[in-house]
Amino acid sequence: MGFASETWVVTGASRGVGAAIVDGLWERGARLVLNARNAETLRAKAATLDDPTRLRVVVGDIGSAETSVRIAAAAVDLGGPIGVVHNAGVAGAGPMIWEATAGQSAAILGASLDGGLHLVRSLVPAMVDDRSGCFVFVGSGIAERNMTGVGSYGIAKAGEEYLARQLALEAPWLVSFVWRPGVVDTDMQTEARSAPDEVSRVFKSFQDDGLLTTPAEAAADLLRHLAGDRSELSGTTVSVPRKV
Ligand SMILES: NC(=O)c1ccc[n+]([C@@H]2O[C@H](COP(=O)([O-])OP(=O)(O)OC[C@H]3O[C@@H](n4cnc5c(N)ncnc54)[C@H](OP(=O)(O)O)[C@@H]3O)[C@@H](O)[C@H]2O)c1
Repeated sequence: MGFASETWVVTGASRGVGAAIVDGLWERGARLVLNARNAETLRAKAATLDDPTRLRVVVGDIGSAETSVRIAAAAVDLGGPIGVVHNAGVAGAGPMIWEATAGQSAAILGASLDGGLHLVRSLVPAMVDDRSGCFVFVGSGIAERNMTGVGSYGIAKAGEEYLARQLALEAPWLVSFVWRPGVVDTDMQTEARSAPDEVSRVFKSFQDDGLLTTPAEAAADLLRHLAGDRSELSGTTVSVPRKV
């Protein structure tokens, strides 16, 4: 057993934290299914990986059930026990909760919460027969701490973290847990720093106070957890230790 016998699905695999998780899993010999919406960026990421026989690329919005069906087919095709890192996410920092349009909220909820539900529906049936599998839901401290201008994101993350615990409860034979990456220097943080002042202030302070970590540092923490006894993680929330 171990990564080399497994197929891992990574959503939001093209950039940021997801791209670093891809690198970590790839180096350890895993077969991978990569997903993101932008075909060009995702294919550019896939092109950095050297063995197409252990790689599938599924372009599409994970907020759409149809994308998760294609992801599940690709994972089954690659074979072996399946793990999922549901990392896709959009913060959409800016509008107060009543100002966010229905479309903006739907995109944020789609990436995190709907996407998680679609993946569970599509992939758990492929795990039932050998009663193994692992779901990592990439969470955030915002799930339990309201912040100005990121309301839809907080709702999405709170829901996604609930989903992780629900899956652990209802399918105790697999591993399902929340992993919070901390504050990571990615496009998401850059975008949040360009939001209006009352929203961006806290994100600028992360940078000013030197709290940002690199995607590679965050990913190394997740890989460390996955290399240990995964069964102890199910139903829990683990967080990258905050930089001081
Ligand atoms: N950065 C932080 O400080 C921080 C803190 C706490 C939690 N997180 C969480 O960590 C995860 C990764 O964040 P990040 O900072 O790496 O973000 P990022 O740099 O903005 O990257 C987001 C990734 O998700 C993909 N994506 C977005 N919406 C998608 C959708 N609907 N379907 C499929 N793919 C989608 C993006 O590619 P496309 O745009 O091409 O789809 C991209 O690959 C997110 O879940 C985020 O909530 C981040």
